[in-house]
Amino acid sequence: MAGLVDFTQPTLYLSAATILFNPTFWNFVARTEYHNKTLTKLAGGNALYGCYGLAVTIFLLGLIRDAVYERALRQQPSHPAMLGFVPQALAVGLVASGNVLVLSSMWALGITGTYLGDYFGILMDEMVTGFPFNVTDAPMYWGSTLSFLGTALWYGKPAGVLLTVLVYTAYRIALTFEDPFTAEIYAKRERERRDAPKKKA
Ligand SMILES: *[C@@H]1O[C@H](CO)[C@@H](O)[C@H](O)[C@H]1NC(C)=O
Repeated sequence: MAGLVDFTQPTLYLSAATILFNPTFWNFVARTEYHNKTLTKLAGGNALYGCYGLAVTIFLLGLIRDAVYERALRQQPSHPAMLGFVPQALAVGLVASGNVLVLSSMWALGITGTYLGDYFGILMDEMVTGFPFNVTDAPMYWGSTLSFLGTALWYGKPAGVLLTVLVYTAYRIALTFEDPFTAEIYAKRERERRDAPKKKA
């Protein structure tokens, strides 16, 4: 690794920190919202506005993370094998498919579906099963990972590949927290729907 990655650059660690911080932050905030309705209360009791506030925050944190990543890459050495036409063409393909996954997923889920609305009690009517969810179960996360990898290739930086592994790992861990939690939120709704008619009768 020595020579490929310059471990003396502080921006490398800053980038790693923002990559780890973001999913940790939104999982923590979303669970706090679920249990204590913190953001809903901050938004004057309006869950939708609370969710929009979180959406804007997550979006801005994402922009900061991406900017720090690019900056970190500029201060890293390039590798000759990662320079030239083939890596650049691959880079464009990766970033483009990454963006297709992220944007189509946002389109399919809407703002509240994308930005953890379920934790606010704003549930989707039905599970979205069409594209891009028939290609991958977490298109937002894998799309973002592809964009990181594409950017690493675009600049020809091995450090970018290393940071992409960190992005991948952070998302994998986030999913082990998020998937069972949201599954339970929807299972709870199903139980309540099932029980509701009995109570009326
Ligand atoms: C996913 O669904 C879209 C339509 O929503 C369809 O065009 C596409 O072929 C499907 N892809 C796979 C891999 O099933």
